[in-house]
Amino acid sequence: MKKIIIINGPNLNLLGKREPGIYGAQSFEDFFTALNDRYDSFELSYFQSNIEGELIDKIQEVGFSFDGIILNAAAYTHTSVGIGDAIKAIETPVIEVHISNTFAREEFRHQSYISPNAKGVILGFGLQSYELALQSFL
Ligand code: DQA
Repeated sequence: MKKIIIINGPNLNLLGKREPGIYGAQSFEDFFTALNDRYDSFELSYFQSNIEGELIDKIQEVGFSFDGIILNAAAYTHTSVGIGDAIKAIETPVIEVHISNTFAREEFRHQSYISPNAKGVILGFGLQSYELALQSFL
């Protein structure tokens, strides 16, 4: 079974409560449970942190043994050279995802330190962005 991890960055623990007009009304935990039930051909895990270094630690920890990382680095997407470098350093392919279409939003969200080192990028499809990313590993 392919081992895939979803890694979520800062403030994504508030999904469902946070700016629902942009990010929707569903909590990530509920979405993840349903996703896990639908795709029993994957060994799926989930990690969330608001702390940049913890995200880097997790990327390093799984980055030589897992089959895929689905990464929403949230605001760190636009600022973190460290997370970009971590993705460069590992072997596991990373799919960058975003819930919102970051290119339709403020200019500072158009920059990504993740994209140049990602296998692919999926954004703008709400929580379904994660599912589309997962399907790329089928
Ligand atoms: C986000 C987009 C980022 O710009 C923002 O900082 C987030 C969430 C998204 O999934 O749409 O926190 O990554």
